[in-house]
Order: sequence, then C-alpha cells, then structure tokens
Amino acid sequence: MEEIKTALAEADPFASWWPFVLAGVVFVVGTIRTFMGGQPCPNANAIPGRVIVVTGACGGIGRELCRELARRSAHHLVLGCRSPDQGAALREQLVREAPGCGVEVLPLDLRSFDSVRRFVRQVQAAHAAVDALVNCAGVIFHPPERTPDGFEPHLQCNFLAHFLLTQLLRPQLGRSQHGGRVVNLSAHGYTAAKLGSRDDPLNLRQTAPAGSGRDAFAHSKLAIVLASRILARRLAATRVTVNCCSPGLVRGTGHLRHSPIMKALFAKVLTYPWMWLFMKSPAQGAQTIVRLVTDPELAGTSGDFFNDCERVELSELAKDDELAERVYREALGAVGLPDEDEPDQ
Ligand SMILES: NC(=O)c1ccc[n+]([C@@H]2O[C@H](COP(=O)([O-])OP(=O)(O)OC[C@H]3O[C@@H](n4cnc5c(N)ncnc54)[C@H](OP(=O)(O)O)[C@@H]3O)[C@@H](O)[C@H]2O)c1
Repeated sequence: MEEIKTALAEADPFASWWPFVLAGVVFVVGTIRTFMGGQPCPNANAIPGRVIVVTGACGGIGRELCRELARRSAHHLVLGCRSPDQGAALREQLVREAPGCGVEVLPLDLRSFDSVRRFVRQVQAAHAAVDALVNCAGVIFHPPERTPDGFEPHLQCNFLAHFLLTQLLRPQLGRSQHGGRVVNLSAHGYTAAKLGSRDDPLNLRQTAPAGSGRDAFAHSKLAIVLASRILARRLAATRVTVNCCSPGLVRGTGHLRHSPIMKALFAKVLTYPWMWLFMKSPAQGAQTIVRLVTDPELAGTSGDFFNDCERVELSELAKDDELAERVYREALGAVGLPDEDEPDQ
C-alpha cells in the first residue's frame, strides 16, 4: 500500500511544472497557427451551373481552389495547365472527389501569347459563357531572361498574359447569367513595387534587366492591381466584376521553386518549422478566391483588393488613377490589342 501511495504521489501532474509548460506551448502554437491561417470563406454557397476557368490550376493554391469549387457543385472547370500529366492527375482527383463536376484540361503556357490565344479559342469553342475566370498562375524569382514574346518573365507570366486572356474572354464573361467574375491573384508584395518611370510604367523600354526577381515580381503584381481597377471601371456598365486578392503567405506550394535560397536543403530544413507555424496551408490560401468566386454578396463589388476574405485598402501608388490608365494602355499595346473602350472619365 505504501508503495502505491508513493507511486501516486510521484505521478501527480501538479508536482511538476512541465504539464503546464507543455499545455502553454500547445495553446500558443495553436493560437498562432489559427491566427496566421487567416479567415475562412464565410459562406458555404454552392455554385451549380457555373463554368469556371482557372490558370495555374495544378499549382498549390490553384489545386485547392479547384477542389473547393468542385465540392461546391461547380458545373464545369476548365483547368489551364502547362503540364498535361499534372493536369490529367488533377482531373482524375476532381472527378473522383466530385463526380458531378465536369473537368477539362487545356494546355496553357503564359510565356507565350500564342499559347494564350490558342487556350482562349478552345474555351470559346466549348463555352458560350464563362462565369468566372481565376488568374491564379504566377512566378517569383524567375531566372532573368526574355520570354519568346520578348518580355521580362514576371511581367509576362503574372500580368501581361493574364491581361490578354481576360480581354479575349470578355465576351464570354459578359454572357454569364450570374454575372461574370474575374479574380486576379496579386500579393502583399505589390506594395514594395518600384516604378522606374511614369512614362514607362511597365519598364518595357528598359534595356538593363529589371532588378532582382523579387522586384520584378512586386512590379508585376502592382501592374495587376492597377490594370484591374481600370478594367473594373470600363466594365462598370456590365455585370462583369474584376477584383484582386492576396492569398497571404502560403507554404507547401511550388511558388519558391526558383528562389536561390530555398533551393538549398539546409534552408528548407531550417525554414520548415517557421513556415509550418506562420504560413497558411494551400487550402487556407485559396479561401479569399473562393469567396470572390462564390459569394452572392460580392456580385456588385468590382475594382477592389481582398485579403483574408475581406476588402482592404489599396496603397497610395495603386490608387493613382492616371498611372493605372497608363499601365492599362501600355498593356493593351504590349499584347497587341486596340483600345476599344471609352474611358469612363
Ligand atoms: N505561395 C505564396 O506564398 C504566395 C504569396 C503571394 C502570392 N501568391 C500567388 O498565388 C498564386 C498561386 O501561387 P502558388 O503558391 O500556388 O504557387 P505554385 O504552386 O508555384 O503555382 C503556380 C502555378 O502557376 C503555374 N505557372 C507558372 N508559370 C506558368 C506559365 N508560364 N504558364 C502557365 N502556368 C504557369 C504553375 O505551373 P507549373 O507547375 O507548370 O510551373 C503552377 O501551376 C500565384 O499567382 C502567386 O504569385 C502566392
């Protein structure tokens, strides 16, 4: 009996501080992860009958977005993918998880305007109306080179190619019975963008390579925000809306694949715990896009920027109307389209 009493006394959790320390650590870690995970989409609306086009569908965030849209009964998803194998694998997964959702994989390489035009022709041949276009593909730290069309790769892949895609799909978006929605993926990093000159806001006439990969990324994401505001304005008389969003900092995607630091194994090992703690999962990163595509409350919202499922204020540079017009016109020229809209002055 004495032995049992002694054993029980020794097993008393209150005899040591360790259980409290452990509970405290679990609480703090859980709180940080919940906070950093961001706000989930505040509704669970189904979207039957919708045809949705997604670029970068096979990427970390794009894949989770497609899974969520399929779960919400989207009628048909058009997946713009560079790799046919990745596209086929994602299609198989979506059909398995949501058998009622039609899934089509079309080749799309944003480094080529010809590829964008081919992609659009295929979409137009199959769908008279498109209910949402999510321009989700993106690159950062891309090696400094020129695309086959002669542009800086961040500018073309993140901005110009999506700009062209959106312009070409305007008739289909305009035919959506639900009101067409364009969602452009930007990033918090757009606020760090530096413009070389207002006369050359896309740095098209720069002969020297444009700074670091991070600078070029930030510049392309600012261009997305500026041009989206002008397109939203020009479409104000229609039911088509255009909004931008940041997914936040998201771990476990291919986004940093070109980062010189993140290529090193020791950097991956060292940063993994911090990423796990402070960054969103790809599914959490997709939540703001899900809201922008599905929420009926946002049917009339256009030209705005969203983060963590909520509208947020733009930076001063992004609010510059004159600069935004210049970016829009330069982009039209760069992709070879005429300016057919009457600016709403
Ligand atoms: N992850 C973050 O922390 C973060 C932060 C801010 C903003 N974002 C933005 O969120 C979006 C999704 O990023 P993610 O994290 O999901 O990255 P990801 O896993 O690398 O996905 C990016 C997708 O873009 C595609 N893509 C890249 N270059 C392409 C090209 N030339 N033609 C066609 N597709 C191309 C990739 O296809 P391949 O696999 O074939 O290359 C991939 O499917 C991007 O716009 C990114 O800039 C992400």
